[in-house]
Amino acid sequence: MSISTERAAWGSRLGFIFAAVGSAVGLGAIWKFPYVMGQNGGGAFLLVYFGCVMLIGIALLLAEMLLGRMSQRTATSAFRVLKGGAWPIVGMFQVLALYIIVSFYVVVGGWTLAYLVSALGGSVIPDSSDQAAGRFTAVISNPTQAIAYTLGFLALTAAVVIGGVEKGIERFSKFLMPALFILMLILMARVLTLPNAIEGLLYYITPDFSKITGQVLIDALGLTFFSLSLGCGMIVAYGSYLTQSHRLVSTSLWVALLASLSGLMAALIILPAVFAFGMNPNEGPGLTFITMPVIFGQMPFGDVFAVAFFALLLFAALTSAVSLLEGIVGYCMDDWRWSRAKASWLICAAVFALSIPNALSFGVWSAPLLGDKTFFDIMDYVAVNILMPAGGFAVAVFIGWVIWPKVRIELAEECNPLWQQVFRWICAVLAPVVIAVIWYTNL
Ligand code: TRP
Repeated sequence: MSISTERAAWGSRLGFIFAAVGSAVGLGAIWKFPYVMGQNGGGAFLLVYFGCVMLIGIALLLAEMLLGRMSQRTATSAFRVLKGGAWPIVGMFQVLALYIIVSFYVVVGGWTLAYLVSALGGSVIPDSSDQAAGRFTAVISNPTQAIAYTLGFLALTAAVVIGGVEKGIERFSKFLMPALFILMLILMARVLTLPNAIEGLLYYITPDFSKITGQVLIDALGLTFFSLSLGCGMIVAYGSYLTQSHRLVSTSLWVALLASLSGLMAALIILPAVFAFGMNPNEGPGLTFITMPVIFGQMPFGDVFAVAFFALLLFAALTSAVSLLEGIVGYCMDDWRWSRAKASWLICAAVFALSIPNALSFGVWSAPLLGDKTFFDIMDYVAVNILMPAGGFAVAVFIGWVIWPKVRIELAEECNPLWQQVFRWICAVLAPVVIAVIWYTNL
């Protein structure tokens, strides 16, 4: 496999791991993981999630990295270079998924910004958990405010993408991401020592297999894809900057480990607190934002911790949002030959347009549109539970069947023949079957 010399490459193996972990660890871990786990009844969901990560998540990370490295291209053109035919269409659906995700991601990023502002003003700690819930509703249901903060977060993301200052972001990640991990450890220690926290948690996470419903399966599958940034061609794009000297197997293991672990840590902060304060684990997308301020109220220097937490969360959200936006901008530059500036501006405008109904779904447009789902819920469901697993399904089939002979050669130096066979078996059979069965149970 020849490597084009003019293509940018990651400086070091660690640089690539940082970038991939930066994309993976974000609102998915800290905002989505706890509330999706809360809605799906705890331990059984957790088992299914970790089952999905280990059985198919790690292999799909490796598959996407290989796709990028072998083609030295991003999503659509990777399929074109390696096979052609109708395959590039898969890449277009992946770009569509990125677009939908970033349009609701910026709304939640906006909430984070709003909470950071009120933490800086010293007014984030509530008197009671009811007041915390009331405040969340007040923040997100005011249309002007919700849209303004969404726009603020989008502007921050756009500034990074347009200015091309990802390099700067990478430099910051090296100490801000570890800082976030350390802060989460401190918060976990505080929460687990609250009265009733551990009892509540244990009761909740003891697996009860009768709770595994079709909904649990599809939510766990979707969260696997969302938390590892899989199925959207993101990892393919990052993989295209890899050279032959990177060891991909251990890299996929690290990304999967750090991303799923940070989600678990967030859940181990939020859920015990929910039990200690007698709140509702089934709260939905507001869970993290309602619970965290109550936790800060129980800590010395709570105001300081609140500022640190929301600032670090904002940073983590920004690194993920940048990767989402960059994925779309990169596609328009590669396939449509747009300049970076043109692509960035037009895409930001399109993202802003779609983010408005998402932002309003918690206020003036909170009436359900389909079943019990709001516009936001529908976007979330379509992108996370359908488009991303579909993208993963296609990548698995592509690697396991369509271009396997080439992949096998590429894998020769990555792992021994036994693991090569395991990998092929996962891509060719297990991953497509798991995804198909989970979809089928939800039809
Ligand atoms: N994984 C990120 C998170 O958990 C979200 C994300 C960033 C993402 N880039 C992605 C999801 C690409 C899917 C595809 O916050």
